[in-house]
Parts: sequence; structure tokens; C-alpha cells
Amino acid sequence: MTLFYFTATGNSLDIAKRLGAELGAQLRSIPLEGATAEVSDDVIGVIFPVYAANVPAIVTRFLRRVRLNAGYTFAIAAHGGEPGDIGGVLATLAAFDNVYTIETWSNYLPFNPDVQPVAVDVSSDIERIAAAIRLKEIRGFKPGGEPFDPAPWHSQALTYRWRKNCTACGTCMKVCPVANYTISETERDANGIPLFKFADSCEGCMACLQNCPNAALYMPNEPTRYRYRNPNITVDEIIAANNQAR
Ligand SMILES: Cc1cc2nc3c(=O)[nH]c(=O)nc-3n(C[C@H](O)[C@H](O)[C@H](O)COP(=O)(O)O)c2cc1C
Repeated sequence: MTLFYFTATGNSLDIAKRLGAELGAQLRSIPLEGATAEVSDDVIGVIFPVYAANVPAIVTRFLRRVRLNAGYTFAIAAHGGEPGDIGGVLATLAAFDNVYTIETWSNYLPFNPDVQPVAVDVSSDIERIAAAIRLKEIRGFKPGGEPFDPAPWHSQALTYRWRKNCTACGTCMKVCPVANYTISETERDANGIPLFKFADSCEGCMACLQNCPNAALYMPNEPTRYRYRNPNITVDEIIAANNQAR
């Protein structure tokens, strides 16, 4: 079994790891798949977060490009309570045998209340979905909606700002799944904050904002002072999953 995943704050990776341990699977991170065009295994799953009731652009591009050869294919959409018609959108991209959803803490910073995030216990979801996968349960979805392609938030990072407590550790750069950041090692602005340069390829995934160890990186008018990463996942695991500079 092969499980592909995309994660910004660890919920999808946590699901992939738990399911992989339960069913015995190899895990592969979508941002590191480069030009992978074809994959064969007995069972193949794709695990990702819901973005605006849709499939993240990076996952859309992957699904448009790759051919999944397997006796059983499924997707799992991690979401913050409003997955929309995610099965319908997926049906326009690939012929999955089933699409499962798991409710998690939402990492969408602009909607997060000013409270300490509380991770959702997904143990029973993992059991439910592992049982369905073992039985190779099939459920059809009517194609619906329009997938994102290209990234609808491509210039979002241009609105981000850094507080003075930025230590130039480079975590934001390393967790970015599309190498949207470069940090100057030598240049600083008048406040001593390192100069950041952006490409125009922001996925809007919030990995940089949410994984900043000092919450130095922020969105203007953000409603919360708190940051979220799934408590079972370390920042090094997010870096290992997403870092393009290797
Ligand atoms: C840009 C963006 C848009 C989102 N839109 C939705 C949404 O429409 N519905 C929803 O339920 N959750 C939404 N979320 C929340 C994520 O789907 C959810 O927190 C997911 O578990 C994050 O997975 P990850 O930790 O693997 O990155 C959104 C998150 C982001 C960053």
C-alpha cells in the first residue's frame, strides 16, 4: 500500500502515519514527488487538507499528472468542519473508489479564534476508515465543482509580515512546499529583520505562518495570537515532507 500525503500543519501526515501503521503502507509526500507520472501498488491512497471546499492546488496538479495503478484507490480529506462537496471535486480529477473525510482542527488562520488550538482525536476515524479500506468499500461520487489550478493564493505571501522576534531560523522557508521563500543571509531591514524574497507560487497552505517557532511571521489583522501544529507531528517532520532545498 502506498499513501501519498500533503500537509502544512501535520493533520494529514498524522492521519497518513496512523493509517500506515494500521494497514502497513509506504508514505510519500506529494511536494517531493517531482515529476512522478505513474505509480503501481495493490492499494493507493491520497491524503490532503480541504482548502475552500476544494482540493489544494498542489494536490490538483499531482492528480492531473499522475496515473495511479491499483486494485483499490481512495482519498482522505482532512477538514475543519466544512468539507463541501470534496468527493464531487475529486471525481473531476481521478476515479477514486472511495473518498473519506476526517474532521480536524482548522489551520486556516484568518478564521481561527483567539484561543489555544485543541487537536481533534481522530482515533475512531482511523479505525472506521481502516476497516472500510480492508473491505475495499466503494462509493461513487457525482463530479461537481471546479478544482483549483493554478494556486488561487499565489501572491498571498506578499501580504505576510515579520515581527522583530524573527531569528532568521529559516523554518518558514524549509516548511514551504513550493520553495516560495528565500531569506537573505546577510541583508537586514531597518528593524534588523532579515530580508525575505518571494516567488509567486504561494499555495496558501499556512505552513510558514503556523510553524514559525516564535509566531514572528503573521498576517495583518489576524484574529489570533496562537499557532497550530498537530501535536503528534514535529516541525522536522513537516520540513522533511515539504522542504525543496535539499
Ligand atoms: C487555505 C485554507 C483553506 C481552508 N479551507 C477549509 C474549508 O473550506 N473547509 C474546512 O473544513 N477546512 C478548511 N481548511 C482547514 C484545513 O483543511 C484543515 O485544518 C486540515 O486539517 C489541515 O491539514 P494539514 O494539517 O495536514 O495541513 C483550510 C485551510 C487552509 C490553509
